[in-house]
Amino acid sequence: NNNKITIAIDGYSSTGKSTVAKQLAKHLGYIYVDSGAMYRAVTYYAMIHGFIDEHQFNKEALISNLQSIEISFKFNSDLGFAEVYLNGENVEKQIRTLEVSGFVSKVATLPEVRSQLVKQQQKMGKDKGVVMDGRDIGTVVFPDAELKLFMSASAETRAKRRYKELIDRGDDVRYEDVLRNVEERDYMDTNRAESPLLKAPDAINFDNSNMTRDKQFEAILKLVDKVIDK
Ligand code: CDP
Ligand code: CDP
Repeated sequence: NNNKITIAIDGYSSTGKSTVAKQLAKHLGYIYVDSGAMYRAVTYYAMIHGFIDEHQFNKEALISNLQSIEISFKFNSDLGFAEVYLNGENVEKQIRTLEVSGFVSKVATLPEVRSQLVKQQQKMGKDKGVVMDGRDIGTVVFPDAELKLFMSASAETRAKRRYKELIDRGDDVRYEDVLRNVEERDYMDTNRAESPLLKAPDAINFDNSNMTRDKQFEAILKLVDKVIDK
């Protein structure tokens, strides 16, 4: 199929963006890029270098070290998607902790961080045939994407989903802390000055509060087929 398109999926935290993006990429033979993983990897870098913790955020130090941060993706055929690497090290597991989630929205406010990552994201999607999920994909990274989705679900639904995911992987977290993190990131991501989370005018609203993963995939695939068949 030479009618490859770009699919931009934005929305609030834990709405199922990456779940459906992976399903779509597999089904269509497209590449999947988890842009949030890139912000998480930069945050993880800042944490292990002591640039951010619960008491301080040394933005200048992080900014002056941005050139030393190399993020890449490598497809893992067992998992069926690409894992994220920071300076050659697989950090897929390390970047998903609640601790990283607690700092990432602060790091994501920095214009210097955003412009570096956006440039890389645009390069990865230059030949189309890409599904990318994040917060600013339909508005900033690929404003010309042929299909844009804006995902939402109630905060409690999202926190429950994320809590289950963290417990299942063995993390010792409390539901209240996960819910608080989801709500704080919603707030910070929506209210920051640089590329805030915003529905692009031509994005389709998609609320999956009461949808299973399979139902959600089915419904979104219909939207994709409509665009591809045009
Ligand atoms: O998967 P989850 O919804 O928890 O978040 P994520 O997609 O991994 O993104 C983590 C954080 O990175 C978000 O809360 C945003 O602060 C930031 N982010 C962003 O600013 N722009 C993007 N395109 C993707 C993520
Ligand atoms: O990428 P994003 O943060 O938007 O969400 P995700 O990582 O795809 O989904 C968060 C959690 O919700 C995962 O554990 C999914 O399996 C689950 N989920 C669900 O239970 N029902 C859905 N309709 C979508 C996602």
